Amino acid sequence: MFPPMLGLATHLDRTRITMTDRESFNRAVSVAREYNPYSGQFLEHEFEVYDIMREHLPIARSESAGGRSGLGVEGSWVLTRYDDSCEFLQNAATFSNQVSSYPVRPWIPQAIDPPAHSAYRRIMNPWFTVDAMRLLEPHLEKFAEELVDKMLENDEFDFVAEFADPFPTVIFCQLAGFPLEDYQQIMDWKNTLMHPSDGHSRGRELAVALARELGLDVGGDASITSEVELAVRGEVGRRIYAYLGALIDKRRGQPEDDMISRLLEASYEGERPLTQEEMEDTLFLFYMAGLDTVASALGLIVQTFASDPVKRHEFIALMDDPEKASVAVEELVRYHAIVLLPRRVTDDVSFHGAEFRDGDTALCPTMAANRDAAEFENPHELVYDRAPNRHIGFGLGPHRCIGIHLARRELRIGLQVFHRKLPDYELNPNAKIEAFGGMKGLAALPLKKS
Ligand code: HEM
Repeated sequence: MFPPMLGLATHLDRTRITMTDRESFNRAVSVAREYNPYSGQFLEHEFEVYDIMREHLPIARSESAGGRSGLGVEGSWVLTRYDDSCEFLQNAATFSNQVSSYPVRPWIPQAIDPPAHSAYRRIMNPWFTVDAMRLLEPHLEKFAEELVDKMLENDEFDFVAEFADPFPTVIFCQLAGFPLEDYQQIMDWKNTLMHPSDGHSRGRELAVALARELGLDVGGDASITSEVELAVRGEVGRRIYAYLGALIDKRRGQPEDDMISRLLEASYEGERPLTQEEMEDTLFLFYMAGLDTVASALGLIVQTFASDPVKRHEFIALMDDPEKASVAVEELVRYHAIVLLPRRVTDDVSFHGAEFRDGDTALCPTMAANRDAAEFENPHELVYDRAPNRHIGFGLGPHRCIGIHLARRELRIGLQVFHRKLPDYELNPNAKIEAFGGMKGLAALPLKKS
């Protein structure tokens, strides 16, 4: 007999499992049971975990997939195969983006299902086209150069604090219309909201301080329970909303060339202006999607390059060839996928043998699908000229990333400028790398010139 499943389910036909398979299967059961992608430590063995789950429990039920009560991901199904993930993400009717509680209201357009979702995307898509983003290129280059020059005044530096964080964040603030003098406040709110308990030390420090300010009990060891996390995220969410609301009010009389002003001019299906709430919910989502994503990808890519000079120099050799560079950046996004995509099941449904129930949460870690050997030959290798490369690092289906052309440009330009100025560097052994889980990334990447 197999051990009791304790909330874990599989669609494998157990009668066909041999003894050796049984041991592997049992290992997969225990791996799925302990699966918690929201901690920084998880990153040390994440691909091994996903390989085991994909092979033996490709749609696993894990009661420990939680940790993000604010996102409603308590117990969850976890999908690790590429094909299953693609089908899942493209079926928005059965797998809804309205996952559960949001710090204030569901954000737009990511937490909205079609058809309303499509109406919002029709408003915003033209703002983020390839052509629109191409116009930003000289500005991106110039700003990247300034940041890198400043960072390289010292022989030792933190790549995340001095480049990966400010580069996309400042660009995004300019696009959105957030005043640059608010940079530190914007980063602090973002870190409190996104990283209270995932291994990001500044996020945790800020969350504990806010919890104390709210009179919540964090105990002597300053522990962030899920209740404390929910309250902290709610409060910081309200503060961000108040900030966004005030910016919208200010722009009403003084339009500028930014996203806030475009939202004020936008029309929903040609019928009516957006409401104040709709504008705030949109800016709130962009606030989160535009600040952390490119920063995380840049940090993880450069971490790999710092410990693998051969791969780094292969990239440097091709990065000034526009065609090769864009294929290589795509491969870097596949290899360093950062996003976990939760969905709410809207019906009792059998999905490749797994029995989903109405209201269940299911999680698609894009990093698992992107390392599936059934779709990608040598999935754990960086192959700069990989073709085809149908990765889902930017998502798939109706919610596929709207910032894709901006993200690709920022990654390419950020990597080019940095490596032109400093092709040889290494990890700084005197300082610690700080990794966080969930929508994963690095909070610190100490490097030194070689
Ligand atoms: C390397 C960088 C980035 C990665 C890996 C990434 C990844 C993703 C993924 C996987 C989704 C799908 C979400 C879902 O299915 O629920 C998404 C959606 C989204 N992304 Fe990005 N993103 C990046 C950069 C950006 C940037 C720079 C922006 C801002 C301009 C942005 C704005 C958005 C928005 C607004 C959505 C929601 C789209 C919708 O629901 O229709 N992203 N992104």
